[in-house]
Amino acid sequence: MRVAVFTLLPLLQALQVDASAGIPVSTFAGATTSFIFPPPGQTITVPDPAFPDAAQVGFPGATPTGAEAAVIATAPSVAKFSNVFPLVNPDTASSPSSSHSKSSSASQPFDVLHNFGNLSPWKSISAASWVLDPVLVNSSPSVPGDCALDQVHLVHRHGARYPSLITGNLPGEFAADIHALAQSGNLSVSGPLAFLATWEYKLGAEILTPFGRSELFDLGVGFRVNYGDLLEGFTDQLPVWRTTSQERMVDSALHFAAGFFGVQTYQQSYHQLIQIEEPGFNSTLSPYYDCSNALNAIAEFGSEQALLWANVYLVDAVKRLQPFVNGLTLTPTILVSIQQLCAYETVALGYSAFCPLFTEDEWTGYSYFNDLSFWYSFGPGNPSVSAQGIGWAQELLSRLTETRITSFDTSVNATIALNETLFPFGLPIYVDATHDTIISAIVTAMNFTALAKEGPLPTDHIPDDHVYIVNNISPFASNLVAQVLTCPVPATPALDASGNSTHIRFILNDAVLPLTGLSGCPSDENGLCPLGTFKDALAARIGEVDYQFDCFANYTIPSPDLITNGQFPQQGKN
Ligand SMILES: *[C@@H]1O[C@H](CO)[C@@H](O)[C@H](O)[C@H]1NC(C)=O
Ligand SMILES: *[C@@H]1O[C@H](CO)[C@@H](O)[C@H](O)[C@H]1NC(C)=O
Ligand SMILES: *[C@@H]1O[C@H](CO)[C@@H](O)[C@H](O)[C@H]1NC(C)=O
Ligand SMILES: *[C@@H]1O[C@H](CO)[C@@H](O)[C@H](O)[C@H]1NC(C)=O
Ligand SMILES: *[C@@H]1O[C@H](CO)[C@@H](O)[C@H](O)[C@H]1NC(C)=O
Ligand SMILES: *[C@@H]1O[C@H](CO)[C@@H](O)[C@H](O)[C@H]1NC(C)=O
Ligand SMILES: *[C@@H]1O[C@H](CO)[C@@H](O)[C@H](O)[C@H]1NC(C)=O
Repeated sequence: MRVAVFTLLPLLQALQVDASAGIPVSTFAGATTSFIFPPPGQTITVPDPAFPDAAQVGFPGATPTGAEAAVIATAPSVAKFSNVFPLVNPDTASSPSSSHSKSSSASQPFDVLHNFGNLSPWKSISAASWVLDPVLVNSSPSVPGDCALDQVHLVHRHGARYPSLITGNLPGEFAADIHALAQSGNLSVSGPLAFLATWEYKLGAEILTPFGRSELFDLGVGFRVNYGDLLEGFTDQLPVWRTTSQERMVDSALHFAAGFFGVQTYQQSYHQLIQIEEPGFNSTLSPYYDCSNALNAIAEFGSEQALLWANVYLVDAVKRLQPFVNGLTLTPTILVSIQQLCAYETVALGYSAFCPLFTEDEWTGYSYFNDLSFWYSFGPGNPSVSAQGIGWAQELLSRLTETRITSFDTSVNATIALNETLFPFGLPIYVDATHDTIISAIVTAMNFTALAKEGPLPTDHIPDDHVYIVNNISPFASNLVAQVLTCPVPATPALDASGNSTHIRFILNDAVLPLTGLSGCPSDENGLCPLGTFKDALAARIGEVDYQFDCFANYTIPSPDLITNGQFPQQGKN
């Protein structure tokens, strides 16, 4: 059986294969509940004379607005985000041995919620704790030294969602199996699995969970408090922020805007561009639909590699849990489904009885399972990935240089990128919403090679000083920020006399990224690269990525050892 373990793998061809193999992936197998609110017939008409709105009622009281916040520039440090309210952080099974990882220190309780890979809620990562480059150990998102902030570019993921159907719904399939067994009277469970006798699958699919809404609202509030004063640069036009047409993508963008502007005014405060996410349409925020090799077996490589690891890290769990269930033969694959169920139930329902079935080591193992899945399907180890990220990189370069893209042979949508209204230049704040697999593609495409420095990931153990951690790269509401700054150059106290921006740096979930993979960008303690150098390197990088070949050529994956930059190796082409 093929096991799809991704969040967002739009495997249209695979979906047909699965369907013909009898594996139901186009409905959420096993779901027993589909609650709809409001109840039928109870629609609200606006305006409703019985319930006049605030403008009709009047009497709002005083409404002075005060000045804008700008924490990123005014405070010596920024607040760390780690809010998971109202999710219950799960307990773990007690562990007799610790074979795959260092056990957590007593002062820092083990954090199950942040071992869910791409199903983790985002939290602030410090550059010091995530050792991408020791030079950055004291860096922070706060504007460095005497620099002035000119512009930010934010690309973020949607918030927590229900399982995706397109990818094959492992939790739903598990639920269907369990429900069938229970109904036929063939399931007998005890001990830690006793709850399965009455357990019901309650998850929806695809859309944001209530917690997912709060993640994006919080992200919007945080962005306002950190970067609000950049709004002063919008003198004669409004921001244009982009998302895609999927329900959770629109919902996420609106919650971000509601957090940023406030619910009474956000719809009058910015333009929301909704790019079509559907096969046959170009969008840099959902580029897989314009990249055949993102939709075929090449994209499933990570799933195969991750399963090799599941057969290592879940061996003990199979032995430990099998005595508590009759009628179902446990396998590592089934236990991966259960770990996913824990993650999904927690971010959707707030609590999951499945989580405490696993030890800390097994959660660390699951985290690494997701790292393998991403590395080989949506990261440096997959040959179609830089191509998928390069469209957004082209758009970034277009915004930075205020120059229109001239050649359209990637996922860029010319109708959008050439239009001054839809794709304006010179604005202080840009916000784009996308998916986990595209954030991972963007950081690969942009040659942020520090993320890939440990080389191809092994499938039989977790490397020491492991860096490619999906919890940190593509969690729910993951956010990659580019700060464009004017700094004293070269070492004089004065800012650039022309007032032009001089530097750029990138911050992923509050960790400053080294830009040393881009030719000419220096090793810098604040992650700064001179803007001109960066633009030249990004242009060169765009030239290195062969979109048409990597996305559309008919190839099989070469040896995994050959790929660490998300591209098909040059010497393998003929
Ligand atoms: C339950 O067990 C019976 C008898 O062994 C078998 O015929 C039936 O197929 C089983 N049902 C399921 C859902 O496994
Ligand atoms: C580009 O985007 C526009 C606006 O969403 C859409 O109408 C058009 O079909 C898109 N073009 C392609 C080739 O995807
Ligand atoms: C859509 O993408 C393809 C490349 O895959 C490109 O050839 C085409 O020009 C693009 N269309 C538009 C309208 O941007
Ligand atoms: C830009 O897009 C807007 C909205 O679709 C449209 O009205 C306008 O004609 C476009 N401009 C050009 C130059 O195509
Ligand atoms: C500043 O920017 C302007 C407009 O882009 C450009 O013409 C000028 O050369 C720049 N000055 C410096 C010193 O780079
Ligand atoms: C990207 O990184 C590779 C090393 O992986 C390097 O050879 C190449 O020159 C880099 N590209 C640019 C534009 O810096
Ligand atoms: C790709 O190449 C293989 C081997 O040459 C061939 O069997 C297959 O039909 C090709 N697939 C497509 C989509 O052209």
